[in-house]
This record gives sequence, C-alpha cells and structure tokens, in this order.
Amino acid sequence: MGRFSKIEVSWAPFSICKEGEKAPYPRALSTPEGLGDRLRFVAFAEKQASLAFTLASEIFTEESEVVKNLWRMLATEEEKHLNWLLARMQELKIDVTERPQSLSLWHSFDRCENAQQFAIFMANAEERGREAGEKFYQTLLEIDPVTATIFQQIALEEREHIAMAKNISHHIKI
Ligand SMILES: [Fe+2]
Ligand SMILES: [Fe+2]
Repeated sequence: MGRFSKIEVSWAPFSICKEGEKAPYPRALSTPEGLGDRLRFVAFAEKQASLAFTLASEIFTEESEVVKNLWRMLATEEEKHLNWLLARMQELKIDVTERPQSLSLWHSFDRCENAQQFAIFMANAEERGREAGEKFYQTLLEIDPVTATIFQQIALEEREHIAMAKNISHHIKI
C-alpha cells in the first residue's frame, strides 16, 4: 500500500466503487441525470484534492512550514469548491450517493515519492480540472447558467492554484 492509500480517510458524503468495480459512464449532459453525474464527479475530484493537500503535510514531514502552510491553504480552497458543488447539487435535488465514484485517481497519488513529485502531479491534475471546468462552463451556459458560473469560478481559481503550485515548488527541499 502506498503512502496516501494507507491513511484511512472518510469519503462521506460520496459512495465509492467496490474493488474491481468500474465507475458507471456519465449520462448525456443534456439530461438532469447527466448534469448530476458531472457535478458529482467534479465534487469528488475536489474532495480528493482537498484531502491530498491536507495529507501532504503529514506525509512529507521533511518539508518546511512555508510549504505545509501553502498546502493547508490549498486544502481549504478545494474544500470550498467541494462545498459550492454540494450546495448546488442540493438545490437541484441531485443525490450525491446515487452513483459510486472511482478511487483510481486517489490511488495514483501513491506514485508520488516526494514533495516535488507531488507538486508536479497536483499541478497537472489542477490543469486538467481547469480545462474541464472551462469546457463545462461553455457547454452549460445555455442549459444551466447558475451551474455554469460555478464551474467558471472554479476554473478561474484553479488557475491561481497552478501559479501557487509553482511558487510552492521553489520552496520544496526534495
Ligand atoms: Fe478546486
Ligand atoms: Fe485547485
């Protein structure tokens, strides 16, 4: 078991795929169920990002307080995104637990052997998240402008996180 996987975390309020089970394919975005699938998926990504930043300061103990504080700050920011999405799901009466989420992204954090690798991994994940957020914004603008704006704001802030991640890597020891 890797360094991230061996730490027990709570995935509430999400439900998780059983071992060997694949996450169901998202339904068409033009349907309420499909919108729910995207919101649930992105919310779960935010949850994983928040947990990863929180655990990083426990795992990479050799790093300075400067680095750890930046990670903690990012953890809080990702939690804020998670809460925006959960609140929107509640407004739309989307059940968070309706479909299970895959832990494959989470397990790939175990490949990060040191803080530098973790920083690069997270910067790439944030970039993918930012791109997806912008795409959702464009697509949803006509269907659901309120949700679209949330995705746009998240994408905008992920851009700041990427800049922060670059700043963190200057302070990282290994
Ligand atoms: Fe985020
Ligand atoms: Fe982020």
